[in-house]
Amino acid sequence: MSDGSTHDAARTGRDGPSPPRYIDALLGDFDGADDHRWNHLGHWDEPAEAVPGSRVRAQERMNDVVVSLADVADGRAVLDVGCGFGGTLQSIDSRFERMELVGLDIDVRQLRVCTRLVPRRTNSLGWVNGDACHLPFPSSRFDSVISIEALWHVPSRREFLHEAGRVLRASGALAVVDILIEPDAADSMGISRREMLETLERGFAPWPEPTTTLEDVLGHAAAAGLECESVIDATDNTVPTYLDHGDSTQRPGAATFSRNDGVRLFVELHRRRCLKVVYLSFTARNSS
Ligand SMILES: C[S@@+](CC[C@H](N)C(=O)[O-])C[C@H]1O[C@@H](n2cnc3c(N)ncnc32)[C@H](O)[C@@H]1O
Repeated sequence: MSDGSTHDAARTGRDGPSPPRYIDALLGDFDGADDHRWNHLGHWDEPAEAVPGSRVRAQERMNDVVVSLADVADGRAVLDVGCGFGGTLQSIDSRFERMELVGLDIDVRQLRVCTRLVPRRTNSLGWVNGDACHLPFPSSRFDSVISIEALWHVPSRREFLHEAGRVLRASGALAVVDILIEPDAADSMGISRREMLETLERGFAPWPEPTTTLEDVLGHAAAAGLECESVIDATDNTVPTYLDHGDSTQRPGAATFSRNDGVRLFVELHRRRCLKVVYLSFTARNSS
């Protein structure tokens, strides 16, 4: 993979999956600022200590937790699925040597922003346009696969996990962050299930599998030959993310984003613990 290249390798045409619409409102964030490429929740080890203005550092913290779960080390090949603006691979590039780093996303606009990143001397960085459920890579290609907050958008978690298991070498590591709605969420909010799902759809589409449970995800992973190493419930650690919600001085474009009723419902579901944020890690048990 040549450094800084973008490679259109999969079908993402009219009938294929499309990027989440909320990305439209966030693209402007990255016009000039290259130092906070995160598009995920923050993680506070001590949620009670969260203060306004600490979100970017907390986003870095979530990234660091997931990178450590993915067993990243010098000399490894790492794939980031749903890489967004490239923050995770940027952070790995800055800390490790002799790395082959590949980011895949369904959204070419974000990948174009990624190509501004220049890898450090001993590392390579490549960017691939494609769908998480059809990874355009040969089997056993990567030592680690990471995916932070992309699974809730992909057409099928089962297919993604199968693909992740396929492209990992034997004993390779997968680490993901997923967002799962609790089965009794609508009742707890006093709304119908249909209203809840339609409202969330307005803020976060595509969200093809909103009723998937943690047990479903773990079952799909086991069927894909992925042995579960850890399940971390980070719901409480990530709730303070909304301290700065809608504050355009913290995040350009956020004020528009926050006015969406789907986004408001999501925040309320999270605050009331009606959705779960989980970090999961697995080891590939495919044949060597
Ligand atoms: C919440 S963002 C997370 C971005 C990045 N991982 C981060 O932590 O900053 C979700 C990302 O998943 C990507 N995505 C959504 N559906 C996808 C799919 N089917 N295949 C690949 N990427 C997808 C989106 O375009 C977006 O960049």
